[in-house]
Amino acid sequence: MGFSQKALLQDLRDLGLKEGDKVLVHTSLSKVGLVEDGPEGFVHTIVEAVGENGLAVFPTFTGTSEDSALKPPYFDVLETPSWTGKVPEAARKLPNAIRSLHPTHSVAVIGKDAKNLVDGHEFVDTPCDKNSPFGILAETGGKIILVGVCHNSNTTFHTAEEYANCPYHMLDDPAVCTIVDYQRNEKKLPTKLHRWGTNRDFNRLEDVFLEKGVEKVGLVGKATCRILETGPMLDIIVSYLKKDPYYLVVKD
Ligand SMILES: CC(C)(COP(=O)(O)OP(=O)(O)OC[C@H]1O[C@@H](n2cnc3c(N)ncnc32)[C@H](O)[C@@H]1OP(=O)(O)O)[C@@H](O)C(=O)NCCC(=O)NCCS
Repeated sequence: MGFSQKALLQDLRDLGLKEGDKVLVHTSLSKVGLVEDGPEGFVHTIVEAVGENGLAVFPTFTGTSEDSALKPPYFDVLETPSWTGKVPEAARKLPNAIRSLHPTHSVAVIGKDAKNLVDGHEFVDTPCDKNSPFGILAETGGKIILVGVCHNSNTTFHTAEEYANCPYHMLDDPAVCTIVDYQRNEKKLPTKLHRWGTNRDFNRLEDVFLEKGVEKVGLVGKATCRILETGPMLDIIVSYLKKDPYYLVVKD
């Protein structure tokens, strides 16, 4: 049996997603079950849940472990597919979505003042820093939902790593990336890149989030779904990383 958009909307409400919320959504749709109207239907359900005064934000990431100053990313806002799943792919193609121009960590945003959240993302110092959509959501009462995925998909942990200057997190040399914008203009911008390959466990702090009431867990369809208050969550992660910048790193 599949899940109607109405049933999924009720699940999201029960979880605590409200009209007017600004929410970053990380998804594994196959965990939800068969969804009415597929990935587009799921995007529509999130957009309806936050309403016309809210903001639905989808990660449309394109960075890879191959990226470096010697192999700089090429990012075309209209053409470059993301690897973050069918839901973000469906979202970024909707006519009312705006995708940011960051060459590795773009987001597609639908809703009130969406442009304000994406504007200038390509100029940030590091991909997830305080001026990026991830940092801005933390500062402005945003929420995160992890649909069928655990904290290892919770990008805002990278925001914490960037706030705390974790020594393993960034490559030393910026890459001069090529970005093609909505007007089809091509520009080259130096961009700092994440360093891939350090094994981290972002689930380590889940008990703390639950204990402090910044995370709640429920079901959306058949998927375990986590909802988090972004700002308080980020404060907790940063506090641990300030004490030990390697706190999240898995020791062999
Ligand atoms: C990689 C990842 C996207 C894979 O998840 P997934 O569930 O296998 O795939 P998607 O979310 O793309 O959803 C596609 C699935 O939706 C399911 N689905 C549910 N209802 C559907 C419908 N009506 N029509 C079509 N597909 C449907 C199908 O199983 C489909 O799988 P298929 O294409 O193999 O048939 C997921 O594991 C993940 O990591 N998500 C989070 C990504 C992220 O935000 N990362 C941040 C990194 S810091």
